[in-house]
Amino acid sequence: MDLNAAVADIATQRTDCAVIPIFQGTRLSAPGQVADEAWGKRLSQVLRGGDISGKLGESLIIHTVGAAPAQRALLIGMGKAAELDDRRFRRAAAAAAGALAKLKCKSATSHLGAVAVKDRGLPWRVRCIAEAMLDAGYRFDQMKSKPEPCVSGPAKGVIAIDSRRELRAAQRAINEAKAVSAGRSLARDLGNLPGNVCTPSYLAEEARKLAGRSPKLKSRVLTESELGKLGMGSFLAVAQGSAEPPRLITIEYSGGDAERQPIVLVGKGVTFDSGGISIKPAGTMDEMKFDMCGAASVLGTLQALADLEALVNVVGIIAATENLPSGTAIKPGDIVTTMSGKTVEILNTDAEGRLILCDALTFAERFEPDVIIDIATLTGACMVALGQHPSGLFSNNDKLADALLRAGEDSGDRVWRLPIWEDYQESLNSNFADFANVGGRYGGAITAACFLARFATDYRWAHLDIAGTAWHSGTKKGATGRPVGLLTEFVLKHGAGRKRSRSKPARAT
Ligand code: BES
Ligand code: MN
Ligand code: ZN
Repeated sequence: MDLNAAVADIATQRTDCAVIPIFQGTRLSAPGQVADEAWGKRLSQVLRGGDISGKLGESLIIHTVGAAPAQRALLIGMGKAAELDDRRFRRAAAAAAGALAKLKCKSATSHLGAVAVKDRGLPWRVRCIAEAMLDAGYRFDQMKSKPEPCVSGPAKGVIAIDSRRELRAAQRAINEAKAVSAGRSLARDLGNLPGNVCTPSYLAEEARKLAGRSPKLKSRVLTESELGKLGMGSFLAVAQGSAEPPRLITIEYSGGDAERQPIVLVGKGVTFDSGGISIKPAGTMDEMKFDMCGAASVLGTLQALADLEALVNVVGIIAATENLPSGTAIKPGDIVTTMSGKTVEILNTDAEGRLILCDALTFAERFEPDVIIDIATLTGACMVALGQHPSGLFSNNDKLADALLRAGEDSGDRVWRLPIWEDYQESLNSNFADFANVGGRYGGAITAACFLARFATDYRWAHLDIAGTAWHSGTKKGATGRPVGLLTEFVLKHGAGRKRSRSKPARAT
């Protein structure tokens, strides 16, 4: 969709569809009133008809058949004006975008930005509308032999603003939305692709392709033998059961001063997780093709940052492998040596994410990170704890955790913090190795994070468990592209990063 901000008077603006907010109690919003006056009170008449009451998320399409310069009006329920907050505005914007996407119109002008949202200014509202409009056009049909013919909404979108003074900020907000939405689409595509297409090598190829998008991006792919030389015994142990070779992918975005330490994003890229010898039940095992959504979000975020030419340094690291049972697979009771030198007793081969991430976290140290964030579909337990609305957040640094919580609120891609107290660590005790890869029955998301924390001792680190947020199940089965929105927001707000200390050895890659 070609989307722009423009000063547009609803009374006179020609468009195939004008999107107009309506408040609960059948009250017209400001643009609604202007349109009503200009269009011979037709909106009031429609509201009196009672087909829309203004409840949050309601929508009604009316055809103006010559009575207005807008061919149609799409009325959107905003709920009560006084209750309109972030979440409710997003819901309304999504309802509007969803309804628009089903219409056969070529152009649309949204006036949703005219309403007041608690603690949020115009650029935030514009960005929110833009993201909703762009995301609504997402389709995944590349695996269908004949893509179903579908209308994907207007080709040209306008987000209306009142004054020229707001134009620059509004246009900037739209550009951010475009980058984030495109990044999210990339992450969704990679997540939705089946495991027999999206393999570790495929992810490596995607990283290479992405690097071609900007001279500030550089990718590097390490193969099995190189991982061996690095001593990544834990990562390789997971990969050894599969015929698909593993890949450790790094992709560096150098948008900032070379002196500045990078933000390192580490993604879990298990392109299919059968559980290994501790095999999963068959029921929903197909969904374990989504077990690389952390990796996908790293690529999506880097794409968004590169598109925005963000003035920061960011390194993406992706540990990509399959987790399969076979004659060469790891077995419960096996002990492996991680890149850090610590030994791990593998009590459950289905707790493979932490086994690959621990080596990636150790590897990440060589980039002299300002902060490290790992993103992983790590535990079913996280979904039990938090449901499917927020991602789980764990951190060894309160400021970093707070910044991520805020970025979650601002982007609508929310996280909620869980503890990684010492108390939980003893559940990882092992009689044979330094510690085990699983804790007890309870607090599984936390004990998984506690395992990772043992490898993230030397820098500011956060872990995002996206098991509940990375994809939808059921009839709407598909990747969400989360947390690209959160990560992009976090990086943009975080800024340049600290200066590298000269006392530390120069980094070797
Ligand atoms: N990829 C899964 C986590 C997962 C499961 C995410 C279901 C979303 C839905 C992960 O590798 C895993 O299998 N974790 C185990 C850990 C357990 C063995 C300690 C789990 O959650 O059951
Ligand atoms: Mn698993
Ligand atoms: Zn997994």
